[in-house]
Amino acid sequence: MSAARMLTGDRPTGRLHLGHYVGSIANRVRLHQRYESFFIIADLHMLTTRNTREDISRVAGNAREMVLDILAAGVEPDRATFYLQSAVPEVGDLNTLFQNLVTVPRLERVPSLKEMARDAGKEEMPYGLLGYPVLQAADILCVRAGVVPVGRDNAPHVEVTREVARRFNHLYGEVLPVPEMIHAETPVLVGTDGRAKMSKSLGNAIALSDEPAVVRRKVLGMYTDPKRVRADVPGTVEGNPVFAYHDVFNPDRAEVDELKERYRAGRVGDVEVKERLTVALNRFLDPMRERRARFAAERGLVDQLIADGTERTRQEVRQTLAEVRRAMGLTAAYQQIRRRAERSRRKADAPATVGTGGA
Ligand code: TRP
Repeated sequence: MSAARMLTGDRPTGRLHLGHYVGSIANRVRLHQRYESFFIIADLHMLTTRNTREDISRVAGNAREMVLDILAAGVEPDRATFYLQSAVPEVGDLNTLFQNLVTVPRLERVPSLKEMARDAGKEEMPYGLLGYPVLQAADILCVRAGVVPVGRDNAPHVEVTREVARRFNHLYGEVLPVPEMIHAETPVLVGTDGRAKMSKSLGNAIALSDEPAVVRRKVLGMYTDPKRVRADVPGTVEGNPVFAYHDVFNPDRAEVDELKERYRAGRVGDVEVKERLTVALNRFLDPMRERRARFAAERGLVDQLIADGTERTRQEVRQTLAEVRRAMGLTAAYQQIRRRAERSRRKADAPATVGTGGA
């Protein structure tokens, strides 16, 4: 057996942000040193909520930016296989087979799907969106990934993957690994507007590739304790997004503790707390900006990575699909038909037997 594999990835809808970082990318950077790593550019998943020609016309460009974001975060290009999901059509075959291993009520209980439908302005649940976790199971199992880093939203999807794998193995024999989830230290990051989740479509995100001045503008505009009309009014730290970010991104614990104390006592203005957060965030993002610029300057690097990775992944998926079809007995079914067809053709061609045995 080869070493365990990791699969992770994102839909190519735009640049990655701090929420992606804490939910999954931090773990990807750590784990890609240990596992053979696949990074999916999940454009088929994107289609479950965005499928206009215009959305699709942006896939190639967004894929490039996304891969740059991941490399900028610290994933080494020669330790990672990046691939475009829609260019591996065999994953759709696997999806079709897996659709019979999970029920509609089970999928209706996956919380993120209703949220995604709502955020996309859908009144009714699209069939493809309901099947989102099944397609994700096909992604994960088609490369036989043993680990998947997850934030809050993807954990229930990978739970479905685990059920699909177990169900498959129960029905057809031990073929598929049941992947482990690697949970994030911070499973979900609040948005700059104080809403529960940072999300590009909600317009409350700080991108990993934002310029220092943009980070500052976004931080100064952040939602804080609304009761605090003046700096001498005691403020609330708990649930305050500015402090939530300090907790995650400011490594100077002493500074954060001191700011919290002064905030609670009404002895520091919001602007100072935000200016210090700006400094901390830009310090956190600076090395990423540097790496991003370096990788972006290497002409053709990202496109070559994706093209080579897609070919490589396709080979893997073909093997898995062949094994899955064999285990299920589908290969044998067609073999039987072909053998019979062949036999009957041979009989028809043999002159000695012509006309014998007929009715
Ligand atoms: N669901 C992931 C997202 O939130 C994208 C994705 C698709 C994925 N297939 C995957 C993540 C397989 C990990 C493993 O955008």
